[in-house]
Amino acid sequence: MGFKGNYLKLIEDEFSASKIIKERQRKMSLYGDEILNHIRTTNQTDALKQGISLIQKCLQYLDNAGIPLDQADPGHGQGHLVRDYVNAILLLSKLDTNPKNIFLGIVSGTLHDIACQFIRRYDDKERLIQHPECGGILINMIFEEIDALNEWERFAIVHGIDAHQHRLTKKSKMFIKKYSSSRVELTIEVYKDEDKYGNPYLFMWIPRWIDRLDLIGPGFVGRHFLTLVEDHYDFDGKNFFKVSFVNHMKPVLEKIDGNRTMLQHIEMFHLSQSDSSKPYGKHDFGAMIEIRDSYNSALGKIIEAVKNPATYTEKERKNIIDAWFFFLENNIEPTLKGEEASQYLKKGFLLLDEKTQNHWIHGFHVCMEEYELWANSMIFFLNNHIPDEWLKLCPITDDVCDFIRPKEIWTNLLHLI
Ligand SMILES: [Fe+2]
Ligand SMILES: [Fe+2]
Repeated sequence: MGFKGNYLKLIEDEFSASKIIKERQRKMSLYGDEILNHIRTTNQTDALKQGISLIQKCLQYLDNAGIPLDQADPGHGQGHLVRDYVNAILLLSKLDTNPKNIFLGIVSGTLHDIACQFIRRYDDKERLIQHPECGGILINMIFEEIDALNEWERFAIVHGIDAHQHRLTKKSKMFIKKYSSSRVELTIEVYKDEDKYGNPYLFMWIPRWIDRLDLIGPGFVGRHFLTLVEDHYDFDGKNFFKVSFVNHMKPVLEKIDGNRTMLQHIEMFHLSQSDSSKPYGKHDFGAMIEIRDSYNSALGKIIEAVKNPATYTEKERKNIIDAWFFFLENNIEPTLKGEEASQYLKKGFLLLDEKTQNHWIHGFHVCMEEYELWANSMIFFLNNHIPDEWLKLCPITDDVCDFIRPKEIWTNLLHLI
């Protein structure tokens, strides 16, 4: 059946897959305090070096097994993975923490959405074992094949991927689901991510942090827009809500037909970053706060731009629209899926009423400007602070700087404005 067949068989059987996850949760509840004792990394440079080498081995393993890495939906594909990778290097080069957390976090943070190459991210609503846990199961299978780590190193990376989203609070009733053939009610508990004193297990939080940085970075507005290629359900922290293009694009901050708009969704991420009543940012410290606040301030400018449309000439308007869709397919998700989604959405966007378009055109303009600033400063950091061999992320790219570099096809149009 091969690697892919075995993997799909395992995750489609939610009963067996849930047993695997429950066992990992049990192990975490028993041994969570001791895990770092078994991680062999001793200093920060080795942590990054070993982590990056492991990420490259995992991606190469999938490539060698004949599994293409361009199958994910355009919001969870190569663009997200590469931005997660560079954000992980930036964050973990600066974060003042035990190097063991750095080793574990760079791997789990970069590979957290890898299961989206196999399953649809937006099928989570229908699944008990969702894309995070499917990712943990996948990476564990690869680790068994490449035999690179000890039991606890494997466990900590894999469980960090399992726990990267959603099941952060006790309000997780919607995840309780009947398993029809056995009539057993299956549940996945909230992940144990803190010790008994409420201190975070950072190897569980770093992958979430890295994911969050691409939710508030300037790529996010483009990334979220690309997900609108099909109607789907998204998660707002408590419930799944239905997303359909026309309603979702209305530039308002109230629900339409009971569902969030895109502006509301983006603003929710913007406002929740330093909100202590929300679980996401409660353990942020040091470099995470610094990078988070700088990204979030750029996101705030984009939100303000959407709320306050600018006046453009017809020519400028057209240039921004053309630039936006080139930006999506050449930078945000430069795969065939990204290109197809972008071209389809362009047709949809041009059918929206002019008022709605004008709000978003201003937002798109500011978003692309912020992306240029972000990408150029990230490239400067990478070129000056990390060895050349860390820039490779094969088979996705030979150079992550080239991957994120703003492409002239859209920057030239933007610079005319
Ligand atoms: Fe995810
Ligand atoms: Fe993600």
